[in-house]
Amino acid sequence: MDISFLIPSETVRTGSKKTIKSIVGGQERIDVFSRCLLNLYRWKERLNTKITLIFYLSHTEELMKISIPLSNINRKIESELDSTREMLKILSKDQNYKVEFEKTNFRKLLNSLARNHGLYYLTPDGLPIKIYEEAIKSESAVCFVLGSQYDLTTEQEKILFDLDAKPLSIGNQNYLASHVITLVCYNLSTSEAFHS
Ligand SMILES: C[S@@+](CC[C@H](N)C(=O)[O-])C[C@H]1O[C@@H](n2cnc3c(N)ncnc32)[C@H](O)[C@@H]1O
Repeated sequence: MDISFLIPSETVRTGSKKTIKSIVGGQERIDVFSRCLLNLYRWKERLNTKITLIFYLSHTEELMKISIPLSNINRKIESELDSTREMLKILSKDQNYKVEFEKTNFRKLLNSLARNHGLYYLTPDGLPIKIYEEAIKSESAVCFVLGSQYDLTTEQEKILFDLDAKPLSIGNQNYLASHVITLVCYNLSTSEAFHS
């Protein structure tokens, strides 16, 4: 089963000048994406499946999907500094990275993902992963959608529910996006749905 995580952000921009220092200082909250990349990268070998990290830049001047298959990242990501460096390269559209940039709107993106992925919306108000074990087992690809430093907008949520995305909770508390990624991967790694 292939796994994707989709994270929208209204603050991250492609054309702005940025440095490691400015990102660490919180510019556009790119640090949230860096941490997601760092945490997900750790599961690259552990889950032994195709993993893709998809960022959606929802700023009105961007409306851009950035799709990052983790298998295309050749340098080791072992620290937050490594992942910040990778994010800088990715956002500068470095030609050495086989990262797909595509202008699209959120509805179109979700429509296209829904064609070949089971969609799961990560929210503390959702149902536990155990409930979805059989549904997940039957999928050849799943996409988990979660907020970045902010929750999804009401409009984004509506689009997800229009497409029958299943609300999935990993606990009653609010967690950071990067922690949610780790918890989902951990749950998958220990779930029969993933191994059978
Ligand atoms: C940092 S939160 C967004 C802002 C959040 N309301 C907060 O300040 O804690 C990042 C995202 O992770 C997901 N998330 C957080 N806690 C979760 C939980 N307990 N179960 C499922 N998803 C969760 C949600 O999609 C959320 O938008």
